[in-house]
Amino acid sequence: VGTKAQYAFQYTLFFLLLPECTADHVQQQPGGVIATEGGLVTLSCQYNTSANNAYLYWFKQEENDFPKYMLSRYSFGSGDNATGFKERFDARLDADSKSVPLTIQRVQLSDSAVYYCALQPTVRGNL
Ligand SMILES: *[C@@H]1O[C@H](CO)[C@@H](O)[C@H](O)[C@H]1NC(C)=O
Ligand SMILES: *[C@@H]1O[C@H](CO)[C@@H](O)[C@H](O)[C@H]1NC(C)=O
Repeated sequence: VGTKAQYAFQYTLFFLLLPECTADHVQQQPGGVIATEGGLVTLSCQYNTSANNAYLYWFKQEENDFPKYMLSRYSFGSGDNATGFKERFDARLDADSKSVPLTIQRVQLSDSAVYYCALQPTVRGNL
């Protein structure tokens, strides 16, 4: 009971940033997730990379808007939360299961959007 918020998922590739790393990609569960207002929702994201240190990013895209950077998580280092996503939004990178699920607490109707998970692998032997 209560208002439902709808989430949609898409596959994302980071071809734009590092076109040479086509083997690295992320996988999100296709389709939508229904969450109850005030509840908690977890959006999955699996990634694949041969790099030692993976940089994972979550973006939120509202209708007719550009994707908004929400937060970043790294295999080494903590990453950060963007302004506006310092509360209620969190993600834990698990290097063993290669996942970085996003959790949204106390879901609000304004959370209804498309959420992207993206991977920026560091090139091995770089620097
Ligand atoms: C990761 O790569 C392995 C081996 O190439 C493949 O079997 C697996 O499906 C990939 N997983 C994801 C989440 O892309
Ligand atoms: C991001 O926000 C979550 C939820 O408020 C918080 O638990 C977490 O510590 C923050 N992470 C970072 C790296 O700022």
